[in-house]
This record gives sequence, C-alpha cells and structure tokens, in this order.
Amino acid sequence: MIIQDNISLAPLTTFRVGGPARYFIDARSEQDVLDAVSVAAAGQFPLFVLGGGSNLVVSDEGWPGLVLKVSISGLEFRNDPTNPTIIAGAGENWDSLVALAVSKHCAGLECLSGIPGTVGGTPVQNVGAYGQEAAETITSVRVLEISTGKVIDLNPDECGFSYRTSIFNSTHHGWYIVMQVTYTLNRGATPTIEYADLKKYFAGRSGTATLQQTREAVRSIRNSKAMLLVEGDEDCRSAGSFFKNPVVTKPEAERVDALAHQRVPGKVMPWYPAEDGMIKLSAAWLVEQAGFAKGYTRGPAAISRKHSLAIVNRGGAKATDIIALKDEIQQRVLNLWGLALVPEPVFVGFGDQPPR
Ligand code: EPU
Repeated sequence: MIIQDNISLAPLTTFRVGGPARYFIDARSEQDVLDAVSVAAAGQFPLFVLGGGSNLVVSDEGWPGLVLKVSISGLEFRNDPTNPTIIAGAGENWDSLVALAVSKHCAGLECLSGIPGTVGGTPVQNVGAYGQEAAETITSVRVLEISTGKVIDLNPDECGFSYRTSIFNSTHHGWYIVMQVTYTLNRGATPTIEYADLKKYFAGRSGTATLQQTREAVRSIRNSKAMLLVEGDEDCRSAGSFFKNPVVTKPEAERVDALAHQRVPGKVMPWYPAEDGMIKLSAAWLVEQAGFAKGYTRGPAAISRKHSLAIVNRGGAKATDIIALKDEIQQRVLNLWGLALVPEPVFVGFGDQPPR
C-alpha cells in the first residue's frame, strides 16, 4: 500500500472540479482498506472514501486529510438455478456489472445501464433510474465497520434503503466502508419497461423487448440527456442530476400545481406517486419553468444543454462557480415555487457546513 501526497482530485471526478487530497491511498484489497483506516486513525487525518467520483463536488481547497479510493476488484457470477447472483468488489465499474447480468439473461439491473461510477456507490445512494433501483436486487453489503475494524455483512433491511438514501449516507454516515456487494437477479425475467421514456422508446415495436434491447434503450436515452459518459461531450462533465426531485405531501403538490397553472398555462406539471402517499415532483421541470433554459450559463458553469437538472463544468470551472450557479437556481426556485431544492451530489472538503 502506497501513501501518496497532494493528489489532485479533479481528474478523479466526472465534474473535473476540486483541489488536492493531502494524502491519498488507492486500496486494491480489503487489507489495504483496513490499513488505510489505521493510517487515518494514527495520523488523526479526516477520512474520505472515494469510489467512481461520479456524484461529487470537491471544494477548491480539496480534502485536508486522507482520501481512500476503494479499488477492490472482483466480478463473480454465481449460476444458482433459482437465485443467480453477482458478487462484486466495490471498485468494479458499475456498467460492466450490468452488462454481465444482461449477458447472463438475468433481469433486475437492465434499467440501471450506463450509470457512471463504481459498485461501491450503488448501496450508498441507492442508485436508481428508469424504473429500477439498486435496493431491489442488493441482498448483502460487505462493509468494514470503522470503529471496530470488523468486516461484517449487512442485509437489505439493515441498509435502510429509500429514495437516493441508505444508512450509509444518512443515519450511519461515516461508520462503514463498502467493500463488496451481492446482487440477486431474476433469471429469464422480462425487462422492466415502466418508465415513460422507455415505454416511448419501445412504442410501436412488435414483440417483447429483450434485456439486451432494454439495456441499449436506456444507454441511448441516457446519451440523449448527456447522462452517459461519452468522450468529447462536454455536457457530461457533471455529477448527473444536481438536485433531488422534491417529495412532498398531496396538498403541497396541489399548491405547486395551482401555481404552475397560473405561471405556465397550457403546460402540465409532471408529478409521480411516491412512497406513503407522497408525491414526487420533477426538479428538472421546476428549474426549467423558473426560467433556466437548457444551456443557461453563468461563467464557466452552466446548465447542461441536454437536461435542465444537470450543472456542468464548461471547462476550467472552480467549485465556487458551480456553487454560485447552484445558489442562483435554488434561490429562484424558492422564490417562484416556494420549494427548497436539495442537492443530490456529495460535497467534499467544505468543512463543517457543506453547501445545502
Ligand atoms: N424535464 C424537463 N426538462 C429537462 C429534463 C426533464 O422539464 O431538461 C422534465 C420532463 O417533464 C420529464 C421529467 O422532467 O418528464 C423527468 O425527467 P427525467 O426522466 O430525465 O428524470 P429526472 O427526474 O430529471 C431522475 C433521476 C436520474 C435518472 C432519471 C431516470 C433524480 C434526482 N434523478 O431524473 O438520476 O437517471 O430520473 O430515471 O432522481 C442522478 O441521480 O444523477 C440521475 C441522473
């Protein structure tokens, strides 16, 4: 295990923004992770665990302690006749895992094709897209418990999954390091084609779509929104959706809908049923109808030309530029819609009071 000094973090993130890590360890094994945690404890260095860097905004000052990049590899398909599983090291590329599942004719992950990042991030933020979320297939998460140095396996109930949330990014933030994840799949099952964009893609085609066709459809839809990492597409220099979709009560949704009728007559505000009778509003729509057209620019930061919910780095942006645009969007959405948008990416190196 090598401890490196002053490693620039920007190239390790999809945003390409942020300063250096004071110390940096690339952990290739569980033992490396254990050793790195000991190094942090011995030096009293604040620890930040980095995966694929696809959902991060790193401050211009960088990280004052140790950044531990989890690069544990291993991608194993277990061909159980009833419960086929994939067991993957946290450092594996996420989309390679989805490709493996699809190639084995196993359903459950096809809608999560093309999401940038690594396996380790999927339980942490309960990654979801196009009608599926990681929590539906995750059956075990192997973690290092930092306080005890023990390696333990958590079952899905213990992970506390909900929309973009788990215990790992909420109640037990900083307690565990994800090292391996097990996904249990459905052999031969048909793909999930429930999301409007997917239904539209397959509308008018005869026969049932295969898992492979669904994977290709999702990648193509993501590409059209610059949510697929493509070399040369500068709208991909982002952290994906910058804000969560607001989940509100029915009366609150009705209030916003009534405002929408006044402000943008003739347009229908999208909303979706969520858990426990709540309603999920579309942050992208609310941002766009607040006057932020796709491609809106503020210095070197901008709203993606292909999706109004992504903030992009047009080249050379600092974290402060990203935050300034974030603040401008939140302020206007609050003024116009009375809604406080909550950022979706993780803020790294902003001290005790990270941007909200
Ligand atoms: N819309 C606009 N303008 C746009 C884009 C979308 O008004 O530029 C409206 C449309 O009405 C559209 C609705 O917003 O029907 C929803 O848009 P979309 O289907 O693109 O989904 P989203 O709610 O913006 C969420 C996730 C994405 C995920 C997609 C597909 C969150 C915060 N985002 O986006 O996840 O890929 O659904 O499932 O939940 C991410 O988390 O980084 C991410 C990309």
